Amino acid sequence: MKLKAIVLAAGEGTRMKSKLPKVLHKVCGQTMLKHIIDTVNNSDIEECIVVVGYEAEKVKESLSSEVKTVFQEEQLGTGHAVTMAYDNIREGTTVLVLCGDGPLITEKTLRAMIDYHRKEDLGATVLTADLPNPEDYGRIIRDAEGRLQKIVEEKDATVEEKSITEINSGIYCFDGSILRDVLPKLENNNIQKEYYLTDVLSVMHNMGLKTGIYKTENYEEVMAINYREQLADVEAIMRKRINGNHMKNGVTIINPGHTYIEKTVTIGMDTVIYAGAILTGNTVIGEGCIIGQNSRIENSIIGNGVEVQSSTIINSSVGDYTTVGPYAYLRPNSSIGKHVKIGTFVEVKNSKIDSYSSASHLSYIGDADVGKNVNIGCGVVFVNYDGKEKNRSVIGDNVFVGSNVNLIAPLIVRKDGYIACGSTITSEVPEGALAIARARQENKEGWVDKKGLLKK
Ligand code: UD1
Ligand code: CA
Repeated sequence: MKLKAIVLAAGEGTRMKSKLPKVLHKVCGQTMLKHIIDTVNNSDIEECIVVVGYEAEKVKESLSSEVKTVFQEEQLGTGHAVTMAYDNIREGTTVLVLCGDGPLITEKTLRAMIDYHRKEDLGATVLTADLPNPEDYGRIIRDAEGRLQKIVEEKDATVEEKSITEINSGIYCFDGSILRDVLPKLENNNIQKEYYLTDVLSVMHNMGLKTGIYKTENYEEVMAINYREQLADVEAIMRKRINGNHMKNGVTIINPGHTYIEKTVTIGMDTVIYAGAILTGNTVIGEGCIIGQNSRIENSIIGNGVEVQSSTIINSSVGDYTTVGPYAYLRPNSSIGKHVKIGTFVEVKNSKIDSYSSASHLSYIGDADVGKNVNIGCGVVFVNYDGKEKNRSVIGDNVFVGSNVNLIAPLIVRKDGYIACGSTITSEVPEGALAIARARQENKEGWVDKKGLLKK
């Protein structure tokens, strides 16, 4: 039987107190909606339809073009939202409905629920869990046989009903043709004057149709986000889950509660990650690396045996056994070779630095191609910008650049060249030559005494 998913994402999320639609708030660097769509797409679902409404364009923009959307102009409730996808609900199809604000659900639980729904041949199945704090969720009311009788919203619940800890996750499986029959029967006679999707289940129950409950022990998976506090709670769980997977794969994380790794990052065995590291985007880190405290690595490829200390690396690559930092900044499009040293307060931008080279302290290397085994002394500045244009420098293999040198681009320093410290180099340095470009020193003997400045 065909399987389709409908994700409800048209609400504003007023309880978030935000200008951003709720479903676009991020959990571990990715919108909650994207987390859910990824999970749905990994669950053998043929088509995923997202119901958009509030800030629809913004929500659509956040989705890949393959995701189909339908528009709910007025947010009249979750039942009304599903009705917007009515034309997509067909006979002979199992329809999975999820809310856009519950990003912790896993493929495993979805599959188990779908299997249960199909095996028991149910008209509808709701995913439930016992929550330590069920406040704000719809409560599951069971009949004398323990079967689903109805779902009562917190706002409509009696004191007794509020004491029930089994909650509605907002995730359901429906038989397509039954859902088509029941949706038009929904009414909005409740405190919020909304068309509740949850009422589909009691209508079905009253029609004598078979509905069921699939209860999960993993209650964290059904936690939804209505408030910022819940956003932080869910973020912490997601972070724990991501970090836990890396640790299972042989990565040491010194303080997992304080290490921020996005789902998209890959890390090799025996790499050690210290507290405060932020690893994001399509970052790939090799084996046996040390990623020191407060390092931020975004969309970058890090080789094996690399040590990064308190540094920032963005859209760049770093070769095996290279050290970066402390306090280095690799800006976009930098490619650092193997066994390179990028030391303290060194900034690199749009540059290639080949293997065994080093820039140990306080340099700016911008728009340059630096060869192998090059020494860049303390305080060297690649002067790449003339006020109008960025220009490139090319530094050959084995070049030695002394401290406090300005290299004015465009510039070529041929291989084996030496540049005396304090020089401002404006033209090509030939192969094997020493370039000195600074004023010669003059000593005026006895000058201090003559001026009466000598301290007695
Ligand atoms: C809903 C359920 C509640 C359940 C909880 C689980 C109903 C009536 N209540 O409550 O039983 O315990 O989820 O998290 O279904 N949405 C639309 N269009 C609308 C209204 C909502 O697309 O007109 C979307 C929202 O964007 C959101 C989702 O549906 O992603 C759930 O809406 P929300 O208002 O958060 O429902 P809850 O009150 O949490
Ligand atoms: Ca909700």
